[in-house]
Amino acid sequence: MSQPLRLGIAGLGTVGVGVVQILRKQAKLLQARTGREIVISAVSARDRTKDRGVTLSSYAWEDDPVALAKRDDVDVFVELIGGEDGPAKDACEAALALGKDVVTANKAMLAMHGQSLAETAEERGCVIKYEAAVAGGIPVIKTLSEALAGNEITRVMGVMNGSCNYMLTRMEDAGLTYAEVFAEADGLGYLEADPQLDVGGIDAAHKLAILSSLAFGTKVNFAGIELEGIERVSIEDITAAADMGYKIKLLGVAQMTGRGLEQRMQPCLVPETSPLGQLQGGTNMIVLEGDSVGQIVLRGPGAGAGPTASAVLSDICDIARGVRGPVFGQAATKLEDATPALSKRPAAYYLRMALKDKPGALAKVAAVLGEAGVSIDRMRQYAHADDHAPVLIVTHKITRSDLDHALSAMATTNVVAADPVALRIEEV
Ligand code: NAP
Ligand code: HSE
Repeated sequence: MSQPLRLGIAGLGTVGVGVVQILRKQAKLLQARTGREIVISAVSARDRTKDRGVTLSSYAWEDDPVALAKRDDVDVFVELIGGEDGPAKDACEAALALGKDVVTANKAMLAMHGQSLAETAEERGCVIKYEAAVAGGIPVIKTLSEALAGNEITRVMGVMNGSCNYMLTRMEDAGLTYAEVFAEADGLGYLEADPQLDVGGIDAAHKLAILSSLAFGTKVNFAGIELEGIERVSIEDITAAADMGYKIKLLGVAQMTGRGLEQRMQPCLVPETSPLGQLQGGTNMIVLEGDSVGQIVLRGPGAGAGPTASAVLSDICDIARGVRGPVFGQAATKLEDATPALSKRPAAYYLRMALKDKPGALAKVAAVLGEAGVSIDRMRQYAHADDHAPVLIVTHKITRSDLDHALSAMATTNVVAADPVALRIEEV
């Protein structure tokens, strides 16, 4: 008869309590599926007196997560505190130093310190499992590292932050401004304690950095991501994009090029009829492309107690069953450096500008675009508002540098009222 697997759970917030609840509710099922009893030895959080809606009195309590990680009756340290540094990282390092496996949902820590933690874990013969760190309940880590292990991954793409997708779809559905939906999402508790992590694209970029490493065999390189949040997406753009048959999404894209690893997290247009275009509310979607499998689309809840705890349990069950393996799919010491490559791949672009109401204004813009080698695919001019005419252009495929030349030249024409908005149209 196998020994029970003994857990120490640090962090009893949304995810931590969700994990305790599943472990209690599904104890028999988990034992049947893994062949081992899975028990909680001890827990840790900041405030011992807080009512968390679950009974914790049968578990030992530690105020300090490092002390929890070091306990003799803890085999696996489950880190659900969060934060790239501080107690979460200290406690994970303490567990690994003692040869204990770690389960975490902490994408910020892995995006910033994944390489050093993976090297430590592998030196010590430990595993770090992190299914919950990317896209909550969607099993994308297992899909990439196990199910698609026979593929060369050609592209990873997706909507990885539910709060931003909620805000963008809410703007479109209710015709609300960015400021209005930001206030609404904040009021509903949908945003991180530091909302910039969501709306600045940082949380989603943490997730993309982790996926890139797994997909392309490179060291996690968060700093190499071309990053732009959704703060500048306006209701005008959402409405205009819809009129042209597109939706605006905070889209992450990673692909290996001959020049290095291209990683982008930025608002993009996608066709409204595509799976990504149809993604509503706080749901996440990850698109994986492999040389043999073709395209796979994974869709599901990216956050919340149940979905995220479900992913944590998948990792705990793996450890109970003895399913191990390198942290990022191959030995950490063999991962290549991820040289960042800016996208040189031509793409169609959406341009929105306000033209001054002067004879020849449109002709000047068309001339500037033509001189920069930017060919117009579609164009619409709407009724004048004040003295300006809103004009939308969808270009044929061009490089970003040709577009930037055209935009600089446009600024000198004296017919464009403000900086044009330029958004990439992604082929999905
Ligand atoms: P949370 O609700 O804020 O809970 C954090 C927990 O950590 C709290 O119980 C807190 O204690 C505890 N904590 C904070 N500092 C501590 C310290 N110094 N020592 C011991 N405990 C400490 O966070 P969460 O939403 O559950 O997220 C946990 C992790 O999961 C994060 O890495 C997050 O990014 C990740 N994640 C969350 C979701 C989600 O839907 N929430 C989805 C995917 C991934 P007190 O309760 O006593 O204050
Ligand atoms: N703030 C994150 C989101 C939580 O909205 O997706 C899950 O990582």
